Amino acid sequence: MAALEPIVSKLSGDPAHDEDQRTISEAIGADHGVIDLYAENIKTASTLQEKIEWRNQFTWALARHAVSEELTLYPVMEDKLGQKGKELADVDRGQHMAVKKDLYQLQDMSPDNKNFFPLLDTLLTDLHEHIEHESQEDMPRLEEILSREESKSLANYFEKTKLIIPTRSHPSAPNKPYFENFAAMLAAPIDKFMDLLRAFPEQGKLGDVSASEAPSVVQKS
Ligand SMILES: [Fe+2]
Ligand SMILES: [Fe+2]
Repeated sequence: MAALEPIVSKLSGDPAHDEDQRTISEAIGADHGVIDLYAENIKTASTLQEKIEWRNQFTWALARHAVSEELTLYPVMEDKLGQKGKELADVDRGQHMAVKKDLYQLQDMSPDNKNFFPLLDTLLTDLHEHIEHESQEDMPRLEEILSREESKSLANYFEKTKLIIPTRSHPSAPNKPYFENFAAMLAAPIDKFMDLLRAFPEQGKLGDVSASEAPSVVQKS
């Protein structure tokens, strides 16, 4: 999507864009690690309330990761990698759809429901297959064609986009980009944003690894 190019290059001049900024593959990989950690925390939490909190955190992190990829990463792959990029992005979107369907059920299912953990395991199996595709197929090709500066700019764009994405999964969530721009995203149905009122783990439970995952969007609203 050529329309993204000015956005990505503009971000290169962003004051927030500094030497410490991660590349896109580093940013995506870090997210994948954090999402796995949240899933593990659902399993190991000792009380039902804690399991519910980590379920909410997991849902939120995975949904916004996936939608931000669809809005930022995949269009750039299609733009930069041509036909191969389109094919890769189509595989990614198909894999996302499978994960989102499970996530939509999981987000409102109690962890003490006998179907909860089998569903979580199915979701994680599909997710790991998808993560493998992104890390082994998408990222090497994209990093090869992007300069380090462009890669950092894309990572910055990806991170910023995550902050204004609705917090819950919905089956109508796109497997193609559905917001034309940020204004359209902000005009999304208010019920999406009401979900910010849902319970999340207290900051202290999140730990250092999740610093970028802290629900700062809650504080900004
Ligand atoms: Fe991903
Ligand atoms: Fe993905």
